[in-house]
Amino acid sequence: MFGPELLDAAMFAARLRVFCCCVLLHCYSCGEAKSENAKNVDIRSWEPAETQYWLHDARSFQALDKMGAFPILNFTRDSLRPETFDRLVQEGRPFVVRGLGKAHPMKNWDCDFFRHQDLFRNVQGRREYADTASQQPQWMPLHNIMSSSMVDLPEAKKTGAGTSPYYVGIKDVQYRSPHELSLDSHYSPTWTRELLEFVQNHTVVPEFMRGNNMRSLRDTPEFWFVQGGGESTGAKAHVDVHPESTWSLQLCGEKRWRVAAISPRAAPHVMKLYQDGQIYNRSEHRSWNLFEDAVLFPGDALFFGPAFIHQTLSEGVGPAASITWQFDDPMPANFMRAFMPRLRFTADCHALWPRMQHLVQWAQRTDMQKIQQSSDLCVFLDMDGDGSVTESERTAVVSLWKALISEVKAKVPRILRQRMQLGLEAVVEDQHELADLPKKLRDAVQQWEIMALQLDAAVESDFSARGEL
Ligand SMILES: *[C@@H]1O[C@H](CO)[C@@H](O)[C@H](O)[C@H]1NC(C)=O
Ligand SMILES: *[C@@H]1O[C@H](CO)[C@@H](O)[C@H](O)[C@H]1NC(C)=O
Ligand SMILES: *[C@@H]1O[C@H](CO)[C@@H](O)[C@H](O)[C@H]1NC(C)=O
Repeated sequence: MFGPELLDAAMFAARLRVFCCCVLLHCYSCGEAKSENAKNVDIRSWEPAETQYWLHDARSFQALDKMGAFPILNFTRDSLRPETFDRLVQEGRPFVVRGLGKAHPMKNWDCDFFRHQDLFRNVQGRREYADTASQQPQWMPLHNIMSSSMVDLPEAKKTGAGTSPYYVGIKDVQYRSPHELSLDSHYSPTWTRELLEFVQNHTVVPEFMRGNNMRSLRDTPEFWFVQGGGESTGAKAHVDVHPESTWSLQLCGEKRWRVAAISPRAAPHVMKLYQDGQIYNRSEHRSWNLFEDAVLFPGDALFFGPAFIHQTLSEGVGPAASITWQFDDPMPANFMRAFMPRLRFTADCHALWPRMQHLVQWAQRTDMQKIQQSSDLCVFLDMDGDGSVTESERTAVVSLWKALISEVKAKVPRILRQRMQLGLEAVVEDQHELADLPKKLRDAVQQWEIMALQLDAAVESDFSARGEL
């Protein structure tokens, strides 16, 4: 990465920036009283070092000989015990299970299947991440997307075909009426309830996963397709809105995944930072590439927690297909506690805010004995991981949450909090939403985000230094 001199200079500059910004920030906190409960917790030193959490602690799962990038742990269906799976998920770790699809009801859903099968072959895929000026979605039937010989490269380059993936959001049919969907140009009438039911009929919970995830698996399937012959085809780096863990099963072709937890935050943000490809424009771009890439072959599955940045690229020349689901048992409760400051200060994670608040409130009104019996709550509070919760652990976690909320109230400019509840309940989704705000508010959001990002840059360079192996 950097030479030592360069690193020192960068860190010095970063500290200077932190100092300057703290002076500036002080103005924002004038007149706001600090919460009583918050005074004993240090938000800044709460989170573990990335190297500790993602590298050293990973050794309790698997012997790692290779040093370099942080590992994506590898398992096979037979080598992954349910207790291990639960711990991996609770810690929010990304990991691969090889060959999972071999014994799955979808094991024959290869590229040829999507070309020929009656229910699928004429289903329309919606082109994603196309860098065109057109706002109109572009559609292509699966039998075309999946036919390997279709892409003649020079032609594909000209039209942009083969340079973006196609999405089939089959989960959407259960939440919206057929009429509502027919009015939405981002939705295809070929995405039917019958197709969803067919997918649900082929859905199983892997044997290492808790059985009551069946419901979430049935509710959340989505497909991703990639044409053959395209180069660098895939999803741009982004963070999903949902608060659950995700897994993706490669059905055919090969795909390279890059995943990482979001970076630490120095200040609470009110606007999303990880919309598609946004990260490529920031200095954070360098340091989010901490984990080794995971390459999935047909039948391989990748699991990762919420608040994970992820990007995919097709590998090889053939077409590719994968299916993705969410699941929520167990909750990634260890991850949520360990990285609570960055999760609470990042607008992209706002679906996790009510969950964390719920856990905290539950912790406050539940007696110790009951806490020990509730797996999610126990893991959320068990800071030292010894399997039981002490009064001081409970107090520390509850106080941290209160301190974070106090910090949001003290630092996010009043105009944003009071007019729109920004940073408290609401967040600004993207530039379009920002453009719709009254000018005064828009300016305030923009100013605050520039400020918050400068603080982030400082933390970021410190973080790169700490993450260096
Ligand atoms: C995981 O498995 C893949 C394929 O078998 C292999 O290429 C990769 O090096 C493995 N990674 C680790 C960390 O063992
Ligand atoms: C799903 O399975 C049920 C029960 O076996 C069956 O009645 C139904 O026709 C199946 N649906 C589809 C679309 O395959
Ligand atoms: C990145 O920056 C370029 C140049 O400033 C801009 O045109 C582009 O829209 C930005 N991309 C994203 C995803 O923000």
